Amino acid sequence: MIELRKITGDNIDEVIALEVRENQKDFILTTNLRSIADAYVLNEDGEPTIPFAIYADGVVVGFLMYSYDILDHESFENEDFYRKMGYFVRHIMIDKRYQGKQYGKLAFEKMLMDIEAMPYGEAEYVALFYHTSNLTAKTLYASFGFLETGIVQDNSMLAIKNLDGKITESLVE
Ligand SMILES: CC(C)(COP(=O)(O)OP(=O)(O)OC[C@H]1O[C@@H](n2cnc3c(N)ncnc32)[C@H](O)[C@@H]1OP(=O)(O)O)[C@@H](O)C(=O)NCCC(=O)NCCS
Repeated sequence: MIELRKITGDNIDEVIALEVRENQKDFILTTNLRSIADAYVLNEDGEPTIPFAIYADGVVVGFLMYSYDILDHESFENEDFYRKMGYFVRHIMIDKRYQGKQYGKLAFEKMLMDIEAMPYGEAEYVALFYHTSNLTAKTLYASFGFLETGIVQDNSMLAIKNLDGKITESLVE
């Protein structure tokens, strides 16, 4: 069973110790430790940001984090979503020992279901970036209906999912 649990004194050391494969390091622009520190700062700055430990059958296997914010980067200026509210997936990883077991997919689905409940406010979009060479991430997000925008920053593609209607409606079991 996959669960998302908040970061606490019980799991923070395990989350920080999680690692991706050597050839995946370019796909994530940050570490779990730095992400947790960023969450503190973003929350202080008024951008709700929640880091989660991913558990599979009670074992910490991964980490993810999302924020609630306005999509107002200047590169979005000509897009429908410019200046709209969105949930932004900042980080997702499954430790190298546990990849390829559907944990990433199930955790991502759980996260989308959390977002669907709009825990920090109404939003029209879920957005994320992935490295243009990260085929696994691209395939995973496309399977949940994320569309590439063509906006590329630092070799990362912005993909977006419109939240009109239930986002989990389209999920195929
Ligand atoms: C991306 C990541 C989170 C996926 O988690 P995972 O547990 O390894 O993946 P899953 O077993 O849940 O597979 C999920 C889907 O990914 C896709 N996928 C998995 N391996 C793939 C591969 N080798 N090539 C293409 N797509 C692949 C498939 O769509 C798969 O679903 P399916 O098995 O139903 O077809 C994980 O591999 C990871 O942490 N990678 C390194 C960090 C990273 O790239 N994070 C994303 C940053 S945007």
